[in-house]
Amino acid sequence: MNLENILLENENGIATIIIDRPSKLNALNKKTISELHHAFKETDNDPKVKVIIITGSGEKAFVAGADISEFADFSVSEGAQLASEGQAMLFDFVANLSTPVIAAVNGFALGGGLELALAAHFRVASDNAKMGLPEVSLGVIPGYGGTQRLPQLVGKGRAMEMIMTAGMIDANTALSYGLVNHVTTQEELLPLAEKIASKIMRNSSVAIAAAITSINAGFKDGENGFDTEVTQFGHCFGTADFKEGTQAFLQKRRADFQGE
Ligand code: COA
Repeated sequence: MNLENILLENENGIATIIIDRPSKLNALNKKTISELHHAFKETDNDPKVKVIIITGSGEKAFVAGADISEFADFSVSEGAQLASEGQAMLFDFVANLSTPVIAAVNGFALGGGLELALAAHFRVASDNAKMGLPEVSLGVIPGYGGTQRLPQLVGKGRAMEMIMTAGMIDANTALSYGLVNHVTTQEELLPLAEKIASKIMRNSSVAIAAAITSINAGFKDGENGFDTEVTQFGHCFGTADFKEGTQAFLQKRRADFQGE
C-alpha cells in the first residue's frame, strides 16, 4: 500500500507509526484511517515486532480529531456507518491487537485523536499535550469508542464532565486522572516510550498477548473476564515460552523467549 499520511519505522523490535499530516494537525481522514489499519495489521503480523508505538508528527499535535471536512454533510446512515467502519478498522482493531500498542501523545489529542490514544493499550504524554473529546461542540458525540473507553479509564463522572464541557485537559491533569501513565518533556517522549517498550520486549510475547486478551475480556459485553483468564492461563502452559521462562528461572539464567 502506498503510504501518504503515515510514516512507519521499524527498529530493534519496535515499530513506530507516525501520523504525518501536520498541516491538518494529523486529523484522521478516510485515507489515513485505512493506512493506519494497514500499518497496524502488517506490524502486528511481523514476528520481529514486539511493541508498536503510535505518535503524531510535528510538535503540535498527536491527532486533532477525525477530519471534520469529510463528514460535515453526512446523513444519519452515513454517520452511523462512519463510526462502525472506523471502530472496526482502527479503534477496536488496535485495542484487540496481540502486540502491545503504546500511544505517545505529543500534543493535541482531540476527538478521534484521543479515541485512538484510548484504544492503545496505554499512553504516555509530553507536557504540552492537551486532551479532550470536543464532539458535542460540533453537535455530535464521540463515535470511535470514546463514550466507552474514557469512563473505563478516568471514571464515569470525569468522563461525563469532559464530554459535556467539550473542554481540554492538560497532561498533568490527564496523569492525575489515570488517562496517561507518564508525563515527560517533548524531547524525552519517544525515548521514554522506547524504554518502556524495551522492558516489555524482555518478556514472553505470547504471554503478553494472552494478558491483553484477558484484560480486554473484562470490558466486553457477554464475556466473563475471569473465565477468559482461566482459559488463557491454561493456554500459556502449552507454549514454548512457558517452558523457557520456568526453566530459565530454575536454572538462574535470563529467559530467551522465542514468542512461541
Ligand atoms: N479536521 C479537519 N481539519 C482540522 C482538524 C480536524 N479535526 N483539526 C485541525 N484541522 C486543520 C484546520 O482546519 C487547519 O487547516 P487550514 O490551515 O487548512 O485552515 C489546520 O488543521 C490547523 O488548525 P488550526 O485550527 O488553524 O490550528 P490552531 O492552533 O488555531 O487550533 C485546535 C488548534 C486543535 C484547537 C483546532 O484546530 C481545533 O479545534 N480543531 C478541531 C478539534 C476537534 O473538534 N476535533 C474533534 C473532531 S470530531
